Amino acid sequence: MCYEHLRGHPNIISMLAYGWRHERHAILPYIIVDYSPHGTLRDYLTNEKSVKTYRKRRLVMDVGKGLEALHSCGAVHGDLKLENVLVFNRSGDPQAGRIAKICDFGHSLLLSNYEEELKYRGTALYNAPEVRNQRQAPIPRNMLRKCDIWAFGLLAWEVLLDGEIYSNRIHNDYEIYDRTQLSGESHAKQVLSTALGSAREVPDEIPALYFRGVFLMTLQSKPQARTAFLSSNRPAARPHLDMGKSDWSFDMFRPERQK
Ligand SMILES: Nc1ncnc2c1ncn2[C@@H]1O[C@H](COP(=O)(O)OP(=O)(O)O)[C@@H](O)[C@H]1O
Ligand SMILES: [Mg+2]
Repeated sequence: MCYEHLRGHPNIISMLAYGWRHERHAILPYIIVDYSPHGTLRDYLTNEKSVKTYRKRRLVMDVGKGLEALHSCGAVHGDLKLENVLVFNRSGDPQAGRIAKICDFGHSLLLSNYEEELKYRGTALYNAPEVRNQRQAPIPRNMLRKCDIWAFGLLAWEVLLDGEIYSNRIHNDYEIYDRTQLSGESHAKQVLSTALGSAREVPDEIPALYFRGVFLMTLQSKPQARTAFLSSNRPAARPHLDMGKSDWSFDMFRPERQK
C-alpha cells in the first residue's frame, strides 16, 4: 500500500495512516483506511439484489486492474475473494456508480523476498488446484501470481451470481468442492464448464462475452494456461518477475476496444 505505484491506485484501498497500539505486553501495528459505505463486494451484491450485468462487469474490471497493478509490482495478493474487495462510490458521488477496491493484504507475498520460501495460503474454497499440493510440489515463485488469477476467475463468477458462493452451483457435497474426491484437473474442468454455463445465461451480449472470456482465461487447472495479465502497459523499469507465457490478453475485454 505504501509502494509508489500502488499508492493512489483507484482500485487498491488507500492507507490514510498507520500506528502502533499497546496491548498488555505486545505492541501491535494498525492501519487506518477509508471507510466503505457499501461494505464488501459480497455485501454489496447481496444487499443490492440485482445489479445490472454491465455494472458487474465494471466492478470485476476494477478488481482486475487492481490485481494487475499489484502483480506488476511483484506482489501476490494471496487471498482474493469477495470479502477482500470493498465497494465505494465512484468519484464520491452516489449517482456516479460504484468502484471496487482490493483490501486485506494479510496473506500477500512479495516475490522479491528471497529470504523465505513463499507459500500461498489463501482460503481453501478459492484456492487453485496446485495450492492443495504445495507440500509435495512447491509452486514455483513465478507461478504464485497464477493462484491469484484462479481466485480472480471465481470472484468474477460470484459477482455474476449476485454474491452467491460458487460451489453451490457445482455440488452440494462439501467433500466434492473441498476436492478430496476429485483430482485438481477434473475439479477445474467442472468449475470452468459450470461457470461458462452461468455466462450463457447472461442476456446482454457484451457482458456475456466478457465473463466467458474471463472464465476461459482464469479457471484453467494448469497455471501456465491462465492469463498473466500480459496486456498491461507496464513500464520496463518496474520490478517484476516473468509470469510465464499465456495466449490470452485482457486487452480484448477493455471497454475502449468495444466502441
Ligand atoms: N474500510 C472498510 N470499510 C468497511 N468495512 C471494512 C473495511 N475494512 C474492512 N472491513 C470489513 O471488515 C472485514 C475484515 O477486514 P479485512 O481487512 O478483510 O481483514 P481480515 O479478513 O484479515 O479480518 C471485511 O471483510 C469487511 O467486512
Ligand atoms: Mg479479509
